[in-house]
Amino acid sequence: MSDPFGLRDLDEATLASTPGVKWQANPGRLAAWVADMDFPVAPAISERLQAMVTRGALGYPNWGPSPSPAGRLFVDRMSSRWGWSPDLERVHDLADVLQGVRIAVELLTQPGDPIALHTPAYHPFLNSLREMDRRIVELPVGADRVDDVESIIVAERPRLLILCHPHNPTGHRFDRSELERLSAIAEAADLVVVSDEIHADLAHQNPSGAETHIPFASVSESAARRTVTVTSASKAFNLAGLRWAVMHVGHEELERRVRAFPDHFFGAPNIIAVEAALAAWTEGSEWLEAVMEVLDENRRSLVDLLAQHLPGARYSPPDATYLAWIDCSYLGEGEVPRDIFRERGVEVSPGPQFGREGSGHVRLNMATSPRMLERIVTAMGDG
Ligand SMILES: Cc1ncc(COP(=O)(O)O)c(C=O)c1O
Repeated sequence: MSDPFGLRDLDEATLASTPGVKWQANPGRLAAWVADMDFPVAPAISERLQAMVTRGALGYPNWGPSPSPAGRLFVDRMSSRWGWSPDLERVHDLADVLQGVRIAVELLTQPGDPIALHTPAYHPFLNSLREMDRRIVELPVGADRVDDVESIIVAERPRLLILCHPHNPTGHRFDRSELERLSAIAEAADLVVVSDEIHADLAHQNPSGAETHIPFASVSESAARRTVTVTSASKAFNLAGLRWAVMHVGHEELERRVRAFPDHFFGAPNIIAVEAALAAWTEGSEWLEAVMEVLDENRRSLVDLLAQHLPGARYSPPDATYLAWIDCSYLGEGEVPRDIFRERGVEVSPGPQFGREGSGHVRLNMATSPRMLERIVTAMGDG
């Protein structure tokens, strides 16, 4: 099988010596936890960055008024890829996606205020809300649970919804009908929606033939006015350490409040991170397609690997992301399954990190070669 980007030929010893938290935090264990990929970065990106460093082009950039060129490219990319036209005037560079979420929470809500999100939830959302003393309102995940979402929102009256779209850790894709319902619910409750779309490029083909991803802000006029979209090239292109993300503020009051801060109050973008995002979004599509092929193969083959090595585990292939949300409660509750896999030499993320529903679950990172995935799941098994 042709493998021009070396995605299928990963060597365990080389991976184990990869700098960074994924492989260095737990020496001696196979790393399948934090959401970094094992794949080599796209050549289009590494070549651009190498050329930049070789030329010493690391001074103040000549970008003109903000946003950065990557912020401007975000507007074109949303339009060409997902048919949504963000307003350039409302685009802000960020250091990371979580910063945008925190800005919205800080500026639009008060300590003690209820904030809704689908649980299990990406744990830094939960941790941020706890640190900021906001009350977490838990919503169930699933297109068949929207009536429950509506009842909870009517009862709890949150001011803000953090929509993780596509959803980490379950890999759930919010289809148009679910998004339209959420938009109507948000309108009725006058909710601000912070839509974290960092995993959008990692959405697999939609079996129904419909769109793979629909930006929440594009769903209706009402959604456009109440949505803060945050995203980055970092997840799909494996650039998490570079620190650049982008925020589009459709919500009038938040936009006014963000603009009221002095220039650079929230920091200024890193020239290398911006260059990497430009390379990713202009020249990275072949690499991304090749990655998606491997991820598609992995999410399917995991069904058989689990049946063979952990027959009690329950798992459905995710519609998006490279994360597998696996119910291993037959092994025990709480963090017991994670601890068992640790003893067997594999580091996965413990389910309870993502909230109460995570008890007995683990999140496994599948962004590796098919051979490494097999090696990881074999090690997790007791055979
Ligand atoms: C849903 C989601 N949002 C945000 C992030 C992190 O993005 P950043 O490092 O830009 O805050 C991740 C990383 O895995 C994620 O899964």
